[in-house]
Amino acid sequence: VVDIGKLYGQSGMFTYDPGFTSTASCDSGLTFIDGEEGVLLHRGYPIGQLAEDSSFMEVSYLLLNGELPNKTELDDFEFTITRHTMLHDQLRQFYQGFRRDAHPMAIMCGVVGALSAFYHDSTDISDPDHRKISSHRLIAKMPTIAAAAYKYSIGQPMMQPDNSLSYTGNFLRMTFGVPAEEYEVIPAVEKAMDRIFILHADHEQNASTSTVRLAGSSGANPFACIAAGIACLWGPAHGGANEAALNMLREIGTPDRIPEYIARAKNKDDPFRLMGFGHRVYKNYDPRATVMQKTVREVFDALKVTDPVFDVALQLEEMALNDPYFVDKKLFPNVDFYSGVILSAIGFPTEMFTALFALARTVGWVAQWNEMISDPGQRIGRPRQLYTGPAQRDYVPIGQR
Ligand code: ACO
Repeated sequence: VVDIGKLYGQSGMFTYDPGFTSTASCDSGLTFIDGEEGVLLHRGYPIGQLAEDSSFMEVSYLLLNGELPNKTELDDFEFTITRHTMLHDQLRQFYQGFRRDAHPMAIMCGVVGALSAFYHDSTDISDPDHRKISSHRLIAKMPTIAAAAYKYSIGQPMMQPDNSLSYTGNFLRMTFGVPAEEYEVIPAVEKAMDRIFILHADHEQNASTSTVRLAGSSGANPFACIAAGIACLWGPAHGGANEAALNMLREIGTPDRIPEYIARAKNKDDPFRLMGFGHRVYKNYDPRATVMQKTVREVFDALKVTDPVFDVALQLEEMALNDPYFVDKKLFPNVDFYSGVILSAIGFPTEMFTALFALARTVGWVAQWNEMISDPGQRIGRPRQLYTGPAQRDYVPIGQR
């Protein structure tokens, strides 16, 4: 707590909490995390149960509406999302403005922000119906936008959505299918992908969600707010960690090199960190990493493939969890540690990993944004600062400096 009166004679006390390690920025009924115990609940339901028995569409409904849907409600929701999967033809042309080697997250920031220019009919954020349709549009279009970013990067024509498929099956087809050729969705891969979406759907006030809330607190339109969330998610300390984790595991290459990387991670003169390890909130095993590790095996079995990088990951985890440095600092694998191994087995290049995270997190972002805007007490977010610059002084003309 800082008495700013000491600085400039202003009155009032501020809490000084860099990185917001102990500041709650809002109240929320969506997601509960007990980091010490490794517990994650969405609207009260444990993430392990949702990942095992639910679907991404059902979890999306739950996050947006507060309760699990009955069969009719789920059918209606899926039908509504399906109706909004298409991209406006002019938005498709927007892609041509990007270099072919642009990172998919760069394209997603631009394209999602540009949605604001296409949906003037739903940007009155005080109207719950407008908020609802914007939310549905965002959730529905993200797979089309992400798949199109991938197709653009490899020089293939974009695929139109096939709305007879599931949300996740449609995304896989738009990513890996080729126009005029049959694409068969492999059920086990569809299930694994859907589960990965569930595991990334929401995670309370992480950096990107806080960004969406802060952007939205000014009354900005939802498409602009989600674009801001995507920009924040891109960083390697947040959503970019899944890409960085797989790159690191590939760089390690063989188990005999693990000690060298563990030593580097412990060396305070080396900026290197074990990617996919550690978490601001979890001081125990991230429950999402448990599900991810299991899903690796399921996907390998379904595709009849294997990847030596999985062995490296398992042995790295074991070594780290027996090392006093990681034990004392309570550093465990997080959701990103194993997800890259699965996504790579499915066929995604590493540059797409964070785009998939953004696709799934969109539901959490819009649910959090809706929750904030519906709160009658909502105010613009405006943190203060601890000023460390010079005291007041007089301007000196340039010739006298
Ligand atoms: N490897 C080695 N040391 C680590 C690691 C790591 N992965 N993570 C934290 N530490 C150490 C820090 O050096 C620090 O040590 P010190 O106390 O001796 O200075 C201590 O653990 C605490 O670390 P902080 O950076 O203060 O923890 P913070 O809560 O700010 O950061 C973060 C959390 C960013 C996730 C961090 O653990 C990290 O950089 N991990 C690697 C990147 C990563 O996997 N990010 C994904 C997060 S999950 C998500 O976004 C979905």
